[in-house]
Amino acid sequence: MTDKQILLLPGPTPVPPQVALAMARPAINHRGPEFKALWEEVTEGLKDVFQTRSEVVILTASGTGGMEAAVANLISPGEKVLAVTVGAFGERFIQICRAFGVETEVMAFPYGQAADPRAIARRLEADTEHKIKAILVQHNETSTGVLNDIQAISRARGSHPALLIVDSISGLVAADLPMDAWHIDVVIAGSQKAFMLPPGLTMLAVSDRAWQAAEKCTNHRFYLDIKKARNSGLKGQTPFTPAVPLLYGLQESLRLLKTETLAGSFARHALMRDMVRAGVRALGLKLLADDTVASPAVTAICVPEGMKPADIIAPLREKFGVVVAGGQGDVKDRVFRIGHLGYVSFSDILAGLAALENVLIDAGVPVTRGAAVAAAGAILSEGMPAGVETLAS
Ligand SMILES: Cc1ncc(COP(=O)(O)O)c(C=O)c1O
Repeated sequence: MTDKQILLLPGPTPVPPQVALAMARPAINHRGPEFKALWEEVTEGLKDVFQTRSEVVILTASGTGGMEAAVANLISPGEKVLAVTVGAFGERFIQICRAFGVETEVMAFPYGQAADPRAIARRLEADTEHKIKAILVQHNETSTGVLNDIQAISRARGSHPALLIVDSISGLVAADLPMDAWHIDVVIAGSQKAFMLPPGLTMLAVSDRAWQAAEKCTNHRFYLDIKKARNSGLKGQTPFTPAVPLLYGLQESLRLLKTETLAGSFARHALMRDMVRAGVRALGLKLLADDTVASPAVTAICVPEGMKPADIIAPLREKFGVVVAGGQGDVKDRVFRIGHLGYVSFSDILAGLAALENVLIDAGVPVTRGAAVAAAGAILSEGMPAGVETLAS
């Protein structure tokens, strides 16, 4: 059997059958009343997920489109931003800023580490003329499996007026990010991550302060114009033809998340993270990120001495149908990544670890058979908070 796969990727993630069925509904007129009702339900539901009362826009684009929309709609050419990067997606934000003529000051931290809020505070304190118009940062850096402390970064801003723009494409729903409570100005999400949908939608929640910046912004945009999207959205429409099946899927995934609750989702993701970390450590492998900054969505694992990521990734897929991701950026040749976000169950994690163990044994790596599943199973037995309803249960 070669067609049955367990996707342990940091996106795209598996799609629940209810969501897949919802996406198979007959076509509707996207300028008609059925669409308006769908639109109103999903935009209201998204506000709960972003934990905001601000307006949310949905664009038909992958997550990078959401990052581009944030830059093109909020920062004018020649204006300055502080781009805080801890990996490959931070570097992508820098590329986008430069492509849009934005003066980009880079604050880079090594792959595997989180951003230091104190360094951000120091930089902003030194910016007495308030030249820095925005801070750009990842919530969850997918290339390294590091979760930045966004609350601390927001506090580090102090009274500096810079907008805080957070790429939470792989973080939202997997880790807590209360936008309003943490005074975040823009949160960007993507459909193919913890939302359990196929790729194709990006969602941006935009604070009042950020909407004011959008009024003044002179940068170029057309398709990704968030003001156009908001104004059409208020009438229950989109400026351009929307990806209606994905919106049906979103409606269903929001209903599933409502049943699980956000707290339940965060607990499930944290538990999957701990299972993976315990299991991998029991095999003697090293993790790129420290426990204190470990992502609940994805874990980057260092390959054993003398092996390449492909030596693990290929047999996992070919022999076991377990699909994991390679490395990116600076650590491309040093790590492989196990995704544990979205519609992933505890048994998927156990199966993935068992397969990894076999691959290592086949490659001659000295590991104790059964060690990974035993370690992860122990975490699972003690870990699930009582009474938490999860999608996996
Ligand atoms: C943190 C982060 N930012 C941005 C992106 C880019 O999103 P997309 O590939 O959907 O354009 C990803 C995708 O993996 C991501 O994980």
